[in-house]
Amino acid sequence: EAVKIKNICCIGAGYVGGPTCAVIALKCPDITVKVVDLSKERIDQWNSNNLPIFEPGLDDIVKECRGRNLFFSTNIDAAIHEADLVFICVNTPTKSYGLGKSRAPDLKYIESAARRIADISTSNKIVVEKSTVPVKAAESIMEILNSNHKPGVQFQVLSNPEFLAEGTAINDLLNPDRVLIGGEETPEGRNAIESLSNIYSRWVARQKIVATNTWSSELSKLAANAFLAQRISSINSMSAICEATGADVAEVAHAIGLDSRIGPKFLVASVGFGGSCFQKDVLNLVYLSECLNLPQVAAYWNQVIEMNEYQKRRFVDNIVHALFNTVCDKKITIFGFAFKKDTADTRESPSITICKYLIDECAQISIYDPQVDPEQMLHLNTHTHKYTHTGIDIEKYIKIYKSPYEAAKKAHAIVICTEWDEFKTLDYERIYSSMCQPAHIFDGRQLLDHKYLIDIGFRVEAIGKNLSKSHTGKPFSSVEGPKAKRPKW
Ligand code: UDX
Ligand code: UDX
Ligand code: ADP
Repeated sequence: EAVKIKNICCIGAGYVGGPTCAVIALKCPDITVKVVDLSKERIDQWNSNNLPIFEPGLDDIVKECRGRNLFFSTNIDAAIHEADLVFICVNTPTKSYGLGKSRAPDLKYIESAARRIADISTSNKIVVEKSTVPVKAAESIMEILNSNHKPGVQFQVLSNPEFLAEGTAINDLLNPDRVLIGGEETPEGRNAIESLSNIYSRWVARQKIVATNTWSSELSKLAANAFLAQRISSINSMSAICEATGADVAEVAHAIGLDSRIGPKFLVASVGFGGSCFQKDVLNLVYLSECLNLPQVAAYWNQVIEMNEYQKRRFVDNIVHALFNTVCDKKITIFGFAFKKDTADTRESPSITICKYLIDECAQISIYDPQVDPEQMLHLNTHTHKYTHTGIDIEKYIKIYKSPYEAAKKAHAIVICTEWDEFKTLDYERIYSSMCQPAHIFDGRQLLDHKYLIDIGFRVEAIGKNLSKSHTGKPFSSVEGPKAKRPKW
């Protein structure tokens, strides 16, 4: 029979664990939810008025539940001990060393969490993997638990991947498209699935709660992110064709999105996708395929990443080219450092790559972002990225500004990297008159009103759209010859 859950422990107080548990606590006032983390700093932030993550709607929920049935603590052992159900929400970054380096997920945090659970538990528990993990990770967790548990203690391991997107986490958690729960196909497994379903069913319709076997659940998470990333790489590949032909990628996206088999969402061409999940999960899928001896499948998915890198490279090449083939010592203003709007997260942000390429060209970078912590922008080298350079004194090349107007003063170009709403309503006439002439704007997000900017006097280039005709008066084909080759960096 399905156990009624009264105490939940969540290991890992990050982007996934924090918001997920806040919503569970909100919807289940009779369940005590303890979120624990190794990092005292993180837990202190969760217990303060300044939460460690910026997510619309999160503050109100935490305020309502914290101290009532939602607790944040570093006392991991006590929380595990009391729990009937333990969520594992630790990070699974791409491995930076050894076997599978730069591709395989690093499971050391998951393993150490599993070992802790086995050591501490004196009663039966349902252990739920929420972190995105490779297929068969639940099996490994089960093996670790079963080889280390105290006599008489039984575990069930479930896979319950989280599909929330940053910036909309609370809405995604309150109104999910589906909740996926994978478990063992045994009576005990089914009971465990039922226990967890009974939590979600307090606010999610039963038909949206999908039960599968564990492997399907684990693979579905990787597959969903890979399909989403692939859509962006697909539309970005079209954006390159649009720029070369005069088609407009927004029109193309709208036209194909009307086909109900394709659908309108997630077709916004951009400077490239970022975030902690897409690249990591696609690489993970590539690695998995290689390990399963499926090289064609691996090559297919790897192309999604290649296209994303190409898009960022192409964008910077266009900037350098438009600025008369040199950006050396020129002030270039980056608008937006977060990997998308409404988040302060910069993990794998395309801005980082753009800045690095521009720094390779000896540009002077000034950055404005409405949310990102300046410290985080300066520490580009701590971001994991395959183009990381050593020996560059980043602070010599980058200045951070609190005002977009100050950031743009005396700049040669503005580069839109994040689609923050506030960039749409800035006073561009004022900005224009403070810039070096000719003043350029490179819109990496299809965000601004290009015609308006051209009327002010800006030279505008946008992803997926050829605007040369409008600002030179000449037809596209006669504007210039083949693009000059960029110097090697
Ligand atoms: C993603 C998935 O959406 C989510 O379901 C999963 O749980 C975690 O990974 P997230 O990374 O938070 O969420 O943000 P998402 O909105 O998916 O955007 C990822 C990147 O793609 C961003 O850099 C965004 O700007 C970019 N993007 C998205 C585009 O370039 N074009 C689009 O049409 C959509
Ligand atoms: C296609 C387009 O659907 C249509 O819009 C366009 O105008 C012409 O090309 P068609 O080739 O007639 O139409 O058939 P479609 O139903 O798209 O199927 C094409 C192939 O894909 C078939 O072999 C079909 O069996 C296969 N298919 C389709 C799958 O293998 N899986 C699917 O989920 C869908
Ligand atoms: P995600 O985006 O997947 O939520 P984060 O990096 O935001 O990832 O959060 C993961 C959290 O898990 C971090 O705060 C980290 O300190 C914590 N963590 C990692 N390993 C453990 C562990 N063994 N016990 C407790 N917390 C852990």
